[in-house]
Amino acid sequence: MTDTAPERRALAAQLVEAGALTAPEWRAAVEAVPRELFLNPGVFLPEGARWRPVTAVGSEPAEWVRIAYSVDTLTTQLDGHLTADQVGEAVRGLPTSSSTMPALVVSMIESLEVEEGHQVLEIGTGTGYSAALMCHRLGEDNVTTIEVDPDVAARADAALETAGYSTWTVTGDGLLGHPRRAPYDRVIATCAVRRIPYTWIRQTKPGGIILATLGSWANGAGLAKVTVNDDGTAEGRIIGRASFMQARSQAAVPVSGDLSARTAYADSERQTKVSPLMLDEWMPAFLAQLAAPGAQLVRAATSEGARLLCLFDPNRESFAEFTADGDGWQVRQGGPVALWDDIEQALTAWQEAGRPDITAVRLLITNRAHTYWIGGQQITTQTASHWIGDRSVLRWQHRVDRP
Ligand SMILES: C[S@@+](CC[C@H](N)C(=O)[O-])C[C@H]1O[C@@H](n2cnc3c(N)ncnc32)[C@H](O)[C@@H]1O
Repeated sequence: MTDTAPERRALAAQLVEAGALTAPEWRAAVEAVPRELFLNPGVFLPEGARWRPVTAVGSEPAEWVRIAYSVDTLTTQLDGHLTADQVGEAVRGLPTSSSTMPALVVSMIESLEVEEGHQVLEIGTGTGYSAALMCHRLGEDNVTTIEVDPDVAARADAALETAGYSTWTVTGDGLLGHPRRAPYDRVIATCAVRRIPYTWIRQTKPGGIILATLGSWANGAGLAKVTVNDDGTAEGRIIGRASFMQARSQAAVPVSGDLSARTAYADSERQTKVSPLMLDEWMPAFLAQLAAPGAQLVRAATSEGARLLCLFDPNRESFAEFTADGDGWQVRQGGPVALWDDIEQALTAWQEAGRPDITAVRLLITNRAHTYWIGGQQITTQTASHWIGDRSVLRWQHRVDRP
């Protein structure tokens, strides 16, 4: 077997150079954990709109090591089942598991502010590489990691064992946390969520930190860092942008079919106060998801070729459809929720606050709601009614609200 110590040192040096890795303890972890052990049976490399399978056994050892120590995210599963050893040529598919780009992994775990003896819960084991880094730093007994996909969890468990870490790998829905090993000092999610499940807060010690990516759109997610208070609430802020694959039960089902049928009956029509094209920018897209969780942005064209922009919330059966109108835009809204009214209000508040960066957003989480602020101004409050259709949340409500 190839000794990859030089590649590990080189990767660590690159991460230090990029500013993602600053703490000597985490540098030691990157230098110690062989990433290639976590990539079996192989990876999918992007090739245009397809994914080229590359396996460890089918590659020259030097080439495999070069891939394993790339600074990119390495996709290890497509469409919830496909691994690189199962196909012989480039395929289409949606990534459903990966080894996240090392710069994001280490900068996130540095933000977690772990200390000796801390108990950490990770949601989204994936390949197990990030869990291994934490095991190196904290010891295998202090790390619990949950993966929803049984095959992915089994591969990660085997890789962690091979790397020398008999950690607590759990197969299950991480949105429910893992009460058996609670309370935790730190919770970190390496899949994106629409909100921080209250179960994580209940399973974290007062003073403990939770770090998770909020958002489900490809461009427009924010990394939330909250601290749990003595009274069972949690508060904190968005510390930056981040992109992660969505928690499985919250992954958006693509809106397809005849869009005109879905938007045939509108309850209202008016001129917009702000342009919906703002949603192409990261921060407005983030705010839109806070204001209308579950809404999806769809770009389409009419049969005459005119540009169409729509927001759909399939769970709440609501839509907002935009059409260009001179220099402005018209919006038609239908269904029980006026999606654009809520989004426009958040965008207007943000504009009035001087269009600050995503790091200006603060949040407070209680067992009933998520509330977001910029400066002294409340941007939006999400309550359980925003989360209808989300299976995990319904289970969560059941658990929390039971008398
Ligand atoms: C980006 S990968 C994780 C990267 C991983 N930490 C690593 O460093 O290799 C995200 C993982 O989260 C898992 N996942 C998605 N939803 C989940 C859930 N509800 N509970 C636990 N794991 C989940 C996916 O199956 C996927 O393996």
